[in-house]
Amino acid sequence: RKARMAEARTVLLAGPRSFCAGVERAIEIVERVLDQREPPVYVRKQIVHNVHVVADLEARGAVFVDELDAVPDGATVVFSAHGVSPAVRDEARGRGLEVVDASCPLVTKVHVEARRFAARGDTVLLIGHAGHEEVEGTLGEAPEHTILVQNAEEVATLEVPDPERVSYLTQTTLAVDETTEVVAALRERFPALRAPGSEDICYATTNRQEALTAIADESDLVLVVGSRNSSNSVRLVELAQRRGTPAYLIDDTGDIDTEWLAGVRTVGLTAGASAPPRLVEEVIDYLRGFGPVTVTEREVTRETIHFGMPSVLRTPRA
Ligand code: F3S
Repeated sequence: RKARMAEARTVLLAGPRSFCAGVERAIEIVERVLDQREPPVYVRKQIVHNVHVVADLEARGAVFVDELDAVPDGATVVFSAHGVSPAVRDEARGRGLEVVDASCPLVTKVHVEARRFAARGDTVLLIGHAGHEEVEGTLGEAPEHTILVQNAEEVATLEVPDPERVSYLTQTTLAVDETTEVVAALRERFPALRAPGSEDICYATTNRQEALTAIADESDLVLVVGSRNSSNSVRLVELAQRRGTPAYLIDDTGDIDTEWLAGVRTVGLTAGASAPPRLVEEVIDYLRGFGPVTVTEREVTRETIHFGMPSVLRTPRA
């Protein structure tokens, strides 16, 4: 048994993986607010869906709250990367809170489309998962004119006021293949269906899925670093599983069950867009504890996208 556990392994590292531009920006926004404002600094919802990111920022003084009623009048509040509905913005304004918005610009793009499509008289069919914060925010742009569609099965029973005036939008972190199916089903039911100007599923989601697809078949086991509530991370696990490779979502090495490694020669390793790169390094170090590890990175594309800071944070306040 000992000899088997010391077997040499290969780690196939998916690239791109880990932080996207929207997450890097959101974290930097909280860091800058912590530097530039008097504590406490409030953050509505988890800034990004990762337990380690949240714990790190908490340790540096950020106070995470679920709703604005937990924020005292006049305080500074950061909105998370997932975006917020206009109702939340209005509430913050009404309360005189200083808002620093860390919504990812690619989520904001979907909000803008929701407003535009509803304004031209369309029913907006929003493909996404009920209860996810991003979906709640997008739904809030035109609640009277938006219907959530969770999967292709739901398409058959959809009722819209005018089948000639329908358009669709999607959550940014869905599985590309599943979404294609839902859109095809929608188009069959509503031939006049209008699409967003460009894909709503973001570049980072798409790239991480392509990168994992490139290594999943060769892997005996896939590990995805990410938290349970991270939509794009969960989609990565499901993607590997659909291709027939056992796959697990782990917050860190503490979640790895050594039983998973029995007989495994090749470990496919990736991380969701909200998971810090250092956690991936820790997984590799952990695996080295069971025998020699060769790391091979397969980078399907290089990401160069970067989002600037909100103007309110560009220059430190006097
Ligand atoms: Fe934005 Fe996509 Fe990341 S929507 S926060 S770039 S996963």
